[in-house]
Amino acid sequence: MEVSGINYYEHVLDIRRVIEEAQVQNCDEALNICDLSSVERKFRLWQQQLPRIKPYYAVKCNDDSRIVQTLAGLGVGFDCASKNELKLVLDCDVSPERIIFANPCRPISHLDYAKQRQVLKGTVDNEFEIYKLHKHYPNSNLIVRFKSEAKAAQCPLGDKFGCDADIDASALMLLAKALDLTVTGTSFHVGSGCTELEAYERAIKKAKNIFKFGELLGYDLKLLDIGGGFPGSDDEQFVKIAANVNRAVQRHFADERIEIIAEPGRFFVAAAYTLVCKIHAKREVRNAAGKLDTVMYYLNDGVYGSFNCILYDHQLVTAQHYLEGAESLPTFKSLIWGPSCDALDKISENLRLPNLNRGDLLGFPNMGAYTVPIASAFNGFPLPRTLYFRAI
Ligand SMILES: Cc1ncc(COP(=O)(O)O)c(C=O)c1O
Repeated sequence: MEVSGINYYEHVLDIRRVIEEAQVQNCDEALNICDLSSVERKFRLWQQQLPRIKPYYAVKCNDDSRIVQTLAGLGVGFDCASKNELKLVLDCDVSPERIIFANPCRPISHLDYAKQRQVLKGTVDNEFEIYKLHKHYPNSNLIVRFKSEAKAAQCPLGDKFGCDADIDASALMLLAKALDLTVTGTSFHVGSGCTELEAYERAIKKAKNIFKFGELLGYDLKLLDIGGGFPGSDDEQFVKIAANVNRAVQRHFADERIEIIAEPGRFFVAAAYTLVCKIHAKREVRNAAGKLDTVMYYLNDGVYGSFNCILYDHQLVTAQHYLEGAESLPTFKSLIWGPSCDALDKISENLRLPNLNRGDLLGFPNMGAYTVPIASAFNGFPLPRTLYFRAI
């Protein structure tokens, strides 16, 4: 099994077989199993469901270079938030036209880098940033980001970014006009992990009004950016959201000359990763009568490592054991801890599992989004190694 390269499989990636061949039980660190073909399948699903909308992958979600290279090879665009993300993508031979600098508040040195590498498209949502652009990158293309939040999302973003769509967006465009800057479009983000189907429709309608005001000012707005928020592990929900988006686009942006892009992050990568952890210690908690009440397991990865998604991304993780013939075994309330000495390092407390042993493994699917770039080796526990796979 190749640690540095890509491994190939036929038809379906067999996680049990990977675990056996990679000898995970003999290793101290956890294992990330990354299926690059899953990313490719997601791309095909996107093309099928949202043919008019070009995805610009949000690099922040998972900046693994193999993920970025896979998406670059598929012709996807990129949403970058910083100089380092721009560099990562540009170094994969992605042309600057395929990049949007979608962080409305950027340090000057990062703007200088965007200017030097000719990344023109960038979002903006306040007057100070417009003055900054006027001084440091006056020929950039401004995309006015407005706020339009979903009623339900895993991680709302509206407290931090996005101007008011009715009043502020117009004022920002007036200021840009007065400073002789070019506004080329508008953008929004309904919130990451959006679960409200109508959220995009509502935002697209607001975007249309911003386009109308831009036209009044003499701007030729050509870009609508509908942001991220698409689910990563629920394709049925994605199909429903796509139908809503298509309907709203048809109603408000029927003119095919307007380019429509999106910034999906978790959509592409969440399902591509399965994390396999080892139980390195356990404790049994008994009630006053001596009956086994809860089994506590201590794993080799936790919330300071890959499971940071529980803290930062509000993810609910599901675990799977690999015991043969466990169907007939009794299950127990199970509490799962990470390896550090911190009691915040709790992975799950709502699982029922058979009574597992030290050395047994637990697999966690859908671990590709907002995990890898944020994980730290706190308390000296190493991060998981990653094996990459692709279907033949
Ligand atoms: C500006 C921007 N675009 C896109 C994304 C990706 O969102 P998601 O992973 O929900 O698709 C984020 C996530 O925080 C973001 O801040």
